[in-house]
Amino acid sequence: MPLVNTKEMFEKAYKGGYAIGAFNCNNMEIVQAITEAAKECNSPVILQVSAGARKYAKPIYLKKMVEAAVEDTGLPIVLHLDHGADFEICKDCIDGGFTSVMIDCSSKPFEENIEITRKVVEYAHAHVPYVTVEAELGTLAGIEDDVKVEHGAESYTRPEQVEEFVKRTGVDSLAIAIGTSHGAYKFKPEQCTRDPKTGKLLPPPLRFDILEEVSRRLPGFPIVLHGSSSVNQEYVDIINAHGGKLVDAVGVPEEQLRQAARLSVCKINIDSDLRLAMTAGIRQHFEEHPEHFDPRQYVGDGRAYVKELVKHKIKEVLGSNDRL
Ligand code: G3H
Ligand code: 13P
Ligand code: ZN
Repeated sequence: MPLVNTKEMFEKAYKGGYAIGAFNCNNMEIVQAITEAAKECNSPVILQVSAGARKYAKPIYLKKMVEAAVEDTGLPIVLHLDHGADFEICKDCIDGGFTSVMIDCSSKPFEENIEITRKVVEYAHAHVPYVTVEAELGTLAGIEDDVKVEHGAESYTRPEQVEEFVKRTGVDSLAIAIGTSHGAYKFKPEQCTRDPKTGKLLPPPLRFDILEEVSRRLPGFPIVLHGSSSVNQEYVDIINAHGGKLVDAVGVPEEQLRQAARLSVCKINIDSDLRLAMTAGIRQHFEEHPEHFDPRQYVGDGRAYVKELVKHKIKEVLGSNDRL
């Protein structure tokens, strides 16, 4: 099975009330952890690559590793560009064999977002085979590549804009802002309440009213959620117990993501949770085996932690297990 685009995957996900996990990858161990987990869960999967990942690993290495994963697992896998900043990077990825791209002009004025998105869509859809395009309306707080949006400067998607945007761009899926954000510190402590028993932060709920209004206006259309790591406490605790210092890290509760996946959300982006799992595995390994110096030993533990995490996400959050 060659790399696939998102079209059929999202149609099935929409009808089936589940979402596809879009996991960021930066190196071989992460690619293997994600795709081996997906294989064991009989789940379709999206591997996504940011501009930062391309800079770190070089596009050709990422492409070849993803191709190896396709050959190794036989799974339907999408190779997706995450947060493409302009037409040129999208074109480069399309020409280089990506099966899906995101053009992210969400921080630009509405008309400019439409204009650039439409240009990418025209190029991607004319490509053989057809490349699918994701765009975004509304902005998330947090850091993505070099762009940092401060808490308070983010803006929710305005549902009254979505029909015009989709119609005029011809885009295949739309990322919306309903309160998720990038990174492991998604909410400021003052936005949260504190659990009196544990002292842990409880974040404000996602804006399901916006999601429902968008879905009402775009029936059958696949919606994407970025910034959807849950910052699982068990990994934060392992990190902090082994020399780390992550204070007041907080993510999106998994039950809310599961609920979104039952509705129109067909793609859920997860990166920070993989980073936490990898870090937990490596930190624990170093502390328990101070005599080790073979990277296969400690990075191997990181890989095992990421694999377990992805299996958990597929089964308990996305609901994409046994959907092949
Ligand atoms: O949305 C952001 C992703 O987590 C990618 O992060 O730009 O550091 O690779 P990165
Ligand atoms: P997280 O930082 O919540 O993992 O979000 C990842 C993401 O949206 C990648 O595009
Ligand atoms: Zn994102």
